[in-house]
Amino acid sequence: MQRFNASIGFDRRLAAVDIQGSLAHARMLGAVGVLAAADVVAIERGMATIRDEIAAGTFAFDVALEDVHFAIEKRLTALIGDAGKRLHTARSRNDQVATDTRLWLRGAIDDLDARLTALRRAFATQALAHADVIMPGYTHLQVAQPVTFGHHLLAYEAMFARDAARLADCRKRVNVMPLGAAALAGTTFPIDRERVARELGFDAVAGNSLDAVSDRDFALEFVSVASLAMVHLSRFAEELILWSTSRFAFVTIADRFCTGSSIMPQKKNPDVAELVRGKAARVAGHVTALTVLMKGQPLAYNKDNQEDKEPLFDTVDTLDDCLAIVADLVGTGLAPNPDAMRNAAREGYATATDLADYLVRRGVPFRDAHEVVARAVRAAEARGVDLAELSLAELQAFAPVIGDDVHAVLTLAGSVAARDGVGGTAPARVRAAAQAALAALAADPRRQP
Ligand code: ARG
Repeated sequence: MQRFNASIGFDRRLAAVDIQGSLAHARMLGAVGVLAAADVVAIERGMATIRDEIAAGTFAFDVALEDVHFAIEKRLTALIGDAGKRLHTARSRNDQVATDTRLWLRGAIDDLDARLTALRRAFATQALAHADVIMPGYTHLQVAQPVTFGHHLLAYEAMFARDAARLADCRKRVNVMPLGAAALAGTTFPIDRERVARELGFDAVAGNSLDAVSDRDFALEFVSVASLAMVHLSRFAEELILWSTSRFAFVTIADRFCTGSSIMPQKKNPDVAELVRGKAARVAGHVTALTVLMKGQPLAYNKDNQEDKEPLFDTVDTLDDCLAIVADLVGTGLAPNPDAMRNAAREGYATATDLADYLVRRGVPFRDAHEVVARAVRAAEARGVDLAELSLAELQAFAPVIGDDVHAVLTLAGSVAARDGVGGTAPARVRAAAQAALAALAADPRRQP
């Protein structure tokens, strides 16, 4: 029972915020006259000692003490006597653990936000550097139209910008204080919750005590937001894996992000990308775990909620690691191979749409133009050449309106340059978008490098 019941093996990560929360609670109890000033001073002194013991690694996180809250309270009482026993006045472990978890998660969110910023900066910086590098854009993983590598990278910057926005929004609901809800119904003592919230940096106090101690929707929301970010990381990881195969050879990933094979000497495996793709699965699993943990729980607190911590901690650790290593890889370990990208775009008839658009500008209805170009592509395919390699006369056989300016639209550079509207892939547009993304990151006071 002792081992089964205990959470101290993992909730010891809450020790620092548990002490922070207890100190704010004790000071408030002193201010409203529930605790004597001398007791508050003793509690502050005892907690300082406990902090030192934890930092020195001498604090005993003993499984017999069940959880971090009991362990710290017991040690406090051993250090300072009765004042330690008075700390838990007007409080329950139920509002205490909910407060601790929210405080801890708020700090984790702020760290992850900085990680996301570094990742977005890496994508935008590389996009600016490679705004002119042409690669095939795909739909259905079939070559579709030429795009620029910079444009492709900025697609990920856009995804991670939304992840950052979701994280910031989630933080608002995390940063609400349960303390004062006590076990479930509030307390008979004249506590000052606003004062505690101010000291702990909470934006608000929870408005319903039953809800405050019982719901873990804030954790579930966070894990969902994290899972979406992991999905984005996983999509990019999948592209890296594909691009670094010899068939694509679009990119070279620096050796330090890869491993060799124990048996095949020629192998260089994209382990980082594969691990990131794989780790997205565990975070998706944590979303399920917390969803099922909450569903069917009657009000108010149930011990089921002790099971929120491991998925939450693992989500933070996993996302933190993945964001850090992918930011490093994108920023310092990813080299595009423009020749391979260009050749792949050429081989895929990527400018077929450009020829159709050209015919439309010459008065051919789009559906007819589509049909004409399909015939031209089949003819080029039969000869094993690109559209651009067909002569003017050969092209005119498919559509007499074709003029001698046609080859300009069939080049890859012409194709991307022509897509210069907002959100388009033209190098000038990509440079402007990358610069705007970097400027937005620099302008946000929370996002200084
Ligand atoms: N370790 C517990 C948890 O994580 C703390 C709260 C325990 N409360 C209780 N009534 N048993 O939820």
